[in-house]
Formats: sequence, C-alpha cells, structure tokens
Amino acid sequence: MTHKQHPIGTPFPPASTADEVLAGTDLTGRNAIVTGGHAGIGLEVTRALARAGASVTVGARDPDRAADALAGIERVEVGRLDLVDPRSVEAFATGWLDGARPLHILVNGAGASGGPERDARGYETQFATNHLGHFQLTMALLPALRAARGARVVNVSSGAQRFGRIRWDDPNFTNGYDSRVAYAQSKLANVLFAVELDRRWAADSIRGYAVHPGVVVGTKLNSSAGDEALRRMGLIDEAGQPIIDPVVGKKTPRQGASTIVFAATSPLLAGIGGVYLKDNDVSPLDDEPRQLTADCIPAEVASHSVDPESAERLWTLSERLLAA
Ligand SMILES: NC(=O)c1ccc[n+]([C@@H]2O[C@H](COP(=O)([O-])OP(=O)(O)OC[C@H]3O[C@@H](n4cnc5c(N)ncnc54)[C@H](OP(=O)(O)O)[C@@H]3O)[C@@H](O)[C@H]2O)c1
Repeated sequence: MTHKQHPIGTPFPPASTADEVLAGTDLTGRNAIVTGGHAGIGLEVTRALARAGASVTVGARDPDRAADALAGIERVEVGRLDLVDPRSVEAFATGWLDGARPLHILVNGAGASGGPERDARGYETQFATNHLGHFQLTMALLPALRAARGARVVNVSSGAQRFGRIRWDDPNFTNGYDSRVAYAQSKLANVLFAVELDRRWAADSIRGYAVHPGVVVGTKLNSSAGDEALRRMGLIDEAGQPIIDPVVGKKTPRQGASTIVFAATSPLLAGIGGVYLKDNDVSPLDDEPRQLTADCIPAEVASHSVDPESAERLWTLSERLLAA
C-alpha cells in the first residue's frame, strides 16, 4: 500500500515542550477550540496556544470547574460540552457558529478511558466520547473551519491505535465487552477519522491530523490504569512518582502537548495532512507485532490505522450511528 507516513525531520526532539515548539510563532487573530482543554495534556495545549496569542475556547462538561482550572490564562473562554450528549454537542457548535468567527484550529483532545460501559443511547462510552462526539462536533463546525481559509483539525489519538480494530458489525460491544479493547478501537477511530477528513476537506484548506501525545502519567485518564499497572509498565517508581523518559515516550504534560500544537500550527506540515504524528514528526509505519513492556511503548502507526478504505467506511458508520 502507498502511504504518507514518512518522517520529515524536524528540529523538535521528543523532549520538546509545547512552548518550545511554538517559540517565535505568533497566533494572534487565530481562533482555536480545545475539547478537554482544562485538564491534563489539554490544559497544556490551551496554555501554550493562548500564550502564543490564539483565542481559545475550551469545551468542558463542567464549565465552572474548567473555568477554575483555567483561571489566569488570557484569551480563554469555556463552553459547555458533553461529548456523549448529542444535544450538548449541537448547542456548543451552534454557540460557536453564532459568533461568526472563523475556526483555525480544532483540537479534539478530550478522552475517556474505562468508566461506564454505555452512554444514554446504549453506545459504548469510549467510542462515543473519543470518536463519535468529536465526529459530530467537527461536522457541525465545518462552516467555521471553511471560513478560516486554512484550518487544522487535530485528533488526539494514542499508541493504542496499533492494537485497535473497528468492530464493523458490533462497534458498541453488544457482545464481549472489554474496556481496553474498546479504548483501542476508539483511538484507532481517531486516526481513521483524520485520514478521511483530510481526503474530503483538504481541497477546502482543512487538513486533518492524528497525534500520539506520549504517555503522560498523572492525568485522570492515565491514572485510571491504577498504580500497580503503571508500575508494571515502568511509568511510576516505587514511591509512585512518574518516570520521565521522553525518548521512549514517557513524558510530562508539557512534553505531551508538544506534538498536538506541532500538528495544529507547524509550517513544516504545509502540504501534508491525513497523517499520524508522534514526537513532533510524522510517525513511520510499523507493522511489527510489538508487546507493551516496561522498556518499550510501541506507538508508531500501523498500516491498518491509516487504511483509506477503513477510513471511508468509518465515516459512513459514524454518520449512521449519529442519525440513528
Ligand atoms: N495520558 C496519557 O498517557 C495518554 C496517552 C495517549 C493518549 N492520550 C489521550 O490524550 C487525551 C487527553 O488525555 P489526558 O491524559 O490529558 O486525560 P485527562 O486529564 O483525564 O483529560 C481528559 C479530558 O477529557 C474530558 N472528557 C471526558 N469525557 C468527556 C465528555 N463526555 N465530554 C467532554 N469532555 C470529556 C475530561 O473532562 P472532565 O475534567 O470533565 O473529566 C478531561 O478534560 C485523551 O484523548 C487521551 O486518550 C493520553
């Protein structure tokens, strides 16, 4: 299969922070939306984009809590957004479109791992949050993305895409639910969505990217694995402190935010889209079966994760699930 997953070589090593990637970049006049931009990796994305001059709207299901977390950051506002509630997604997007502002950067960053098995529709919660809610939001924001005349959509995925499969006949796990398998499906969906979005919308100057941020210990999502599992994976030490080793993908939140802002802004990606990035560069393709161990966190993109036919098929499936 021909593919686009060729590293371009960038000046930003895995240890780079979001601020380092944005040094010298002026985002004044640019509008961004960051879902989940009040916590964990997303908070650092918001902070860095705003510091570089962008106006950032954070989508959060608890706006008061989000506003508290964002206190002191200039050029930031919060809108209510619950990704598993289609009416909430619609209201958030309508609110944005009412402001008649172009949208230059959309970071689909919010994510669920574990948690309740199903949402109110009976949909598997991780697929509904991580993919379907973002799919609905992005579709609804299309007029504002078009109006930017040069927009980027960044889906925050994970190395888990490698281990994911789309269950075409049973995406909501009516049978055989396994939370980790469902998370991997949702993170694979983040990549396939970026691939198909780019194919459909690049002609409108809207480019799509998927990003593995690195493994960032201490976020609510990451902590859901539990200390014992984190220790086994070499992510925390005996005292429970994060082990930071960016070269193997173990990052601080600021390092985790770097590839996201790189995808959202870097001129080095001009003319490139529909790709999966890690460590501030386009990821190489890697189809070797690799196990997750304390010394190795496989996060390169697998060819099934960027397969154009699956990407198109997921788009159709997502439209159908949202229309149901
Ligand atoms: N940390 C890692 O090691 C790691 C590795 C690979 C990929 N990622 C990805 O990075 C992204 C950020 O994760 P994180 O580690 O920074 O975790 P986090 O701090 O737990 O952030 C997750 C965010 O998603 C929001 N969220 C969850 N369900 C939502 C819903 N229904 N509607 C709206 N927002 C919702 C959370 O809001 P609340 O504050 O309301 O809960 C929170 O702001 C996720 O997409 C994750 O899959 C993380």
